[in-house]
Amino acid sequence: MRTPLIAGNWKMHKTVAEAERFISGLLPLVYAADGVDLAICVPFTDLQAMVDSTRGSRVSVYAQNMHQAPEGAFTGEVSAAMLSEIDVHGVVLGHSERREYFNETDAVLAEKLLAARSAGLAAILCVGETGQQRDEDETEAVLTAQLDRGLALLDAEALAELVIAYEPIWAIGTGAVATAEQAQEACAFVRSRVAAVHAEAAESTRILYGGSVKSDNAAELLGLPDVDGALVGGASLEPESFAAIAAAAVS
Ligand code: PGA
Repeated sequence: MRTPLIAGNWKMHKTVAEAERFISGLLPLVYAADGVDLAICVPFTDLQAMVDSTRGSRVSVYAQNMHQAPEGAFTGEVSAAMLSEIDVHGVVLGHSERREYFNETDAVLAEKLLAARSAGLAAILCVGETGQQRDEDETEAVLTAQLDRGLALLDAEALAELVIAYEPIWAIGTGAVATAEQAQEACAFVRSRVAAVHAEAAESTRILYGGSVKSDNAAELLGLPDVDGALVGGASLEPESFAAIAAAAVS
């Protein structure tokens, strides 16, 4: 009932020339990948080129951040309307790197989610605990705080269409992937928090796992009942590995 989503998070990688090389390598590989939604989350400078190069394909294009205000004196920022004007499909919000290095708070993320929705952008909200928080048995408390505050401004329809990426910070870029049991438990918990706001919507909300997803561990993670896809960092930078993960989502 929930179509899997495989989203590649390029972070601060790829010039336009490199992005064009990537997409011309990827499109033939995913041409026939039925039953899975694909997205690439790219730096601002790559957005227009990737929107143009993916038009008519099964790959949608997401930004990696945006500002919550419609416009204003916010030097260096980009608004939701600026993204939707150039046919960007959506935006990743609250990645742990943005929370850590750019001070993104749950309250600001709640506003960003609302602004994205008002501009017609899809959104992927990232949540997850640090290694220390997991060791101290705080995972559920951390997820509860991030979700209760982050989702505060969304109605049921927005919740149903939202994508939430559970990304344990200790697994991001480390090669230390969560076990199937940890991933399922956390993603089921995320769904239960959405259900606490709106039970019916939570059945439609897609929940992704992220953190060292590779072609050789994707099938197991993507087969878990509450995992509806993956947010992929390092392995999304090469067409072959990204396409292999997409294939694992439908096998
Ligand atoms: P990774 O990154 O796949 O390289 O661990 C995931 C992410 O940061 O979204």
